[in-house]
Amino acid sequence: MTPDDTESARTRPDADFPRRAVRSFVVRAGRMTVAQDRAWRELWPRFGIEDGGDPLDLPAIFGRTAPVTLEIGFGNGESLAALSMAHPERDFLGIEVHRPGVGHLMLLAEAADLRNVRVVCHDAVEVLERRIADGSLDELLLYFPDPWPKKRHHKRRIVQPPFVELVARKLRPGGVFRLATDWQNYAQHMLATVGACRLLENESHDGGYVSRPDSRPLTRFEERGQRLGHDVWDLAFRRP
Ligand SMILES: C[S@@+](CC[C@H](N)C(=O)[O-])C[C@H]1O[C@@H](n2cnc3c(N)ncnc32)[C@H](O)[C@@H]1O
Repeated sequence: MTPDDTESARTRPDADFPRRAVRSFVVRAGRMTVAQDRAWRELWPRFGIEDGGDPLDLPAIFGRTAPVTLEIGFGNGESLAALSMAHPERDFLGIEVHRPGVGHLMLLAEAADLRNVRVVCHDAVEVLERRIADGSLDELLLYFPDPWPKKRHHKRRIVQPPFVELVARKLRPGGVFRLATDWQNYAQHMLATVGACRLLENESHDGGYVSRPDSRPLTRFEERGQRLGHDVWDLAFRRP
């Protein structure tokens, strides 16, 4: 998906998302495949977390106490599924608004019989604000968020000072916020905005970007970017 796709996509009535000032997404009408449709009917009870206002009891949801990684905007879930497969000792929570993508993730989770992944289909900013306890996350991943490249749309970028403060509060001491983007202008914005948060410390020794972490799975999205010659900027900030 490109940002222009995002902008030109047909939107469905925002019944699930009552009007708020500025959101980082437009809910695309994207067609659901037959398999994704089945996933929503049959697998949601296994992997899905119902919408609601109550704080999430993560140990109860996963049936154990383990380090928790949260991925915001996981797209079709490739990296979330790969991570949960590679790290059965950790728990993974994904938040995504695109329903076909959520269906795709549930199919991957079913195929690999993953026990350590759950998904919320809602605006991640609201979920973080209302449902995630402060100091409860070991890692928060924001990989290739919608870049909103046009200047008049920059206000829609999810990385804004209040969002970064919110993320920082949700991390436990020692927890890490990892970001990646293939838009240089967004990378610079991320570095300035996350770098200005006094609750977080840059993991880069020179205060800039970090090397591509081995832990970040290569997705089809990034592979396509590589073929097109796009650079990628990785960032990592720790809550001391
Ligand atoms: C450019 S895609 C990247 C997907 C994936 N991370 C990847 O690397 O392939 C950005 C995704 O973030 C989702 N998204 C944007 N804002 C969001 C929000 N506030 N809450 C949940 N998902 C969001 C979009 O629906 C979209 O699927």
